[in-house]
Parts: sequence; C-alpha cells; structure tokens
Amino acid sequence: MFLTFEGIEGTGKSTQIRMLVNYLEQRGKEHLVTLEPGGSRIGRELRRMLLHLESRDITPETELFLYLADRAQHVAQVIRPALARGKVVISDRFADSTVVYQGYGRGLEPRLLHQLNEVAVAGCWPHATILLDIEPESGLNRAMARNLREGKAVEEGRFEAESLEFHRRVREGYLTWASLHQQRIHVVDAAPGPDEVFESIRTIVDRLLARP
Ligand code: TMP
Repeated sequence: MFLTFEGIEGTGKSTQIRMLVNYLEQRGKEHLVTLEPGGSRIGRELRRMLLHLESRDITPETELFLYLADRAQHVAQVIRPALARGKVVISDRFADSTVVYQGYGRGLEPRLLHQLNEVAVAGCWPHATILLDIEPESGLNRAMARNLREGKAVEEGRFEAESLEFHRRVREGYLTWASLHQQRIHVVDAAPGPDEVFESIRTIVDRLLARP
C-alpha cells in the first residue's frame, strides 16, 4: 500500500506519521517512511536547493522541474522497490504538492502539472492520501516556531517566508484538488489535538488495510 500525507506548513504531518508508524509496528506491518523533496540521495541535494532561503530568485518553472526530478528519482529508487517488497510506503508529500504549490500557489496550470506528474511517477500513484487541513495562520505560526527551534529557518525556510496570501491559495487549492479526487484524498481536520486527529487517520488506514 502506498499512502501519502499532504497539507500546508505546520499541520502536524510529522507527528501523525510517527503515530501511524507506531500503529503499523503494533500490527506487524512492514513499512517505509520517506519524504519529498529529499527521499533519495540526489533528492537530498535538490531539497537543499529548493528550500534554502538563498533560492528566493528561483523561477516557478525551475522550481517545478526540480520537484519533478526529485519525484522521478524517488519513485524509481525508493518507492517502487519498497512496494515491490510488500512494504506499506508512507511519503510525507508527493505529487499533489506540485499541483497545489506550483499550480494553485504559483499560478501554473494544474492540469498540465498533473500530466507532468504522470511522467515523474510512471504509474506509481498513491492508493490513498491524507490531507491535513488547518487555517494558514495557525499552520504558519507552528511551522515558523519549529524551524526556529530546530535552527532551520534559513536552510529550510523558503516556503515559510512566502506571504500569507500564498499560503491561503495553497490551502484553498488543496481543498479544491481534494474535491476533484474524493475517492483517493481524505480531508482530515488538523485543528484538534494529535490523538483526536490520529483517530480519524486510523479509521481511514484500517479501512484501507482491510481491502482485499
Ligand atoms: P516540508 O518538508 O517542510 O514539507 O517542506 C517542503 C516544502 O516544499 C513545502 O513548503 C512544500 C514545498 N513543495 C512544493 O512546493 N512542491 C512539491 O512538489 C513538494 C513535494 C513540496
């Protein structure tokens, strides 16, 4: 099973992924947790370029192609082999991030981005996606506090430094994109505490694991 997590900055994706990993371990399910950008060796170099504050002069098209390059490498080297070994693969962000950030956020055409994603993922689409949804104001505050705490405000802070307006477009974009893919994308309210949020995720994952 291939599961992805999506959402704006500061929705608590990492916490929820950690809780899901504990749950899968209890159930004896082999799994692999990975992320975008940066899930492969080449991807880690791309991640640095993509998220560093120094890259503020990047054009939307360059940004797009670097994310797609990261994804193509990630699918070929990490995701597809793990799925072939029967693992549950969990990716912190995947193809929907490109449609939403580069599309709804930066103004590139979402349908074209979906087609480019098809080239990058080469048939390896997630079985399900959890979209953690939160107000951009609270998400951004959480994300900026975390980056400062972890000393990553420069190294990984390029998107947190975008305007609130940008993050509002991204949040709305996610909800629009989810409404177009209701079978795959499950919207989960990320405002309550972590345990309550995880209960919703666990229900979705149990249903997926019970499928033949
Ligand atoms: P994160 O590791 O904190 O989630 O940061 C990754 C950032 O990259 C996040 O702000 C969203 C952005 N992003 C895109 O703009 N397009 C993409 O395709 C992906 C995977 C991430």
